[in-house]
Amino acid sequence: MRIRKAVFPVAGLGTRLLPASKVLAKELLPIIDRPLIQYAVDEAIEAGCDTLIFVINRYKFQIAEHFDRAFELERRLETGGKHEQLRQVRDVIPAHVRTTFVTQSEALGLGHAVLCAAHAVGDEPFAVLLPDDLIWHHAGPGALRQMADRAAASGHSVVAVEDVPRDQTHRYGIVSAADASARASRIDAIVEKPKPEVAPSTLAVVGRYILHPRIFELLRHLPPGAGGEIQLTDGIAALLNTEQVDCYRFEGRRFDCGSALGVVEATMAFALERPDLAPQVRGMMRNLLAETD
Ligand code: UTP
Repeated sequence: MRIRKAVFPVAGLGTRLLPASKVLAKELLPIIDRPLIQYAVDEAIEAGCDTLIFVINRYKFQIAEHFDRAFELERRLETGGKHEQLRQVRDVIPAHVRTTFVTQSEALGLGHAVLCAAHAVGDEPFAVLLPDDLIWHHAGPGALRQMADRAAASGHSVVAVEDVPRDQTHRYGIVSAADASARASRIDAIVEKPKPEVAPSTLAVVGRYILHPRIFELLRHLPPGAGGEIQLTDGIAALLNTEQVDCYRFEGRRFDCGSALGVVEATMAFALERPDLAPQVRGMMRNLLAETD
């Protein structure tokens, strides 16, 4: 099972980050000096993907512009001798990687957004990355690469999971795993946004998936689920009826950058890791803390 295609469903409304996300796609909001989506794109490329499929809507065309060549800017940087900035602009997408854009004209849910990519994916296993789940593993391979290795070894679809506090289960898809403490395990059941008192576990699905293309046929026939939306979780539940799907506890740290708190946390964490920023940022943090104590 080799994964070449990665789907980025980015056609949601982004209500938790309003008004910042009213005009600017939340996926283009910066974590320091890189747009959120760039982190997910880099993770997909590191995992071996060479075809990136973005599911956008009419408000998100700026995402296509971000990944397009900027000839005038590049010429200016080149003639101005600004080689480092030129490299950064060109590295947005390496030359061997293709981008495709499909539209979801109505936000009918994540499952529906993934279904919109069916034609572009075709009949092969594929990855799904939700860019607002920023996953960072500075000591080794990214989360998708870890999952791709697992899928290659097992031949099964793989869903990323992590433990969440029980009072948060209503915000996630929750799995019941055959071996809940193992790094990888067969999923026995999966349910979207269960209330804490009925959640089968606290093992939550986060925004990385490797899926068999059979999921498309199942999504096509799904009725709306939680919140009246076509849920990817329900598609995975249907897939479980015919084949094994594994959950995988990735190594790394997830930041929920669909929320203001997650954006702040990711910004601080990345700033503290950057040699060019960390010393000053530490000083700033100390001063701010002292001033607000
Ligand atoms: P979220 O649940 O985070 O929703 O979607 P959202 O609209 O992006 O943000 P909030 O909750 O209103 O603040 C999870 C992922 O699924 C995509 C989103 O873009 C996000 O990447 N999605 C969701 C779609 O592409 N289409 C949909 O109809 C729904």
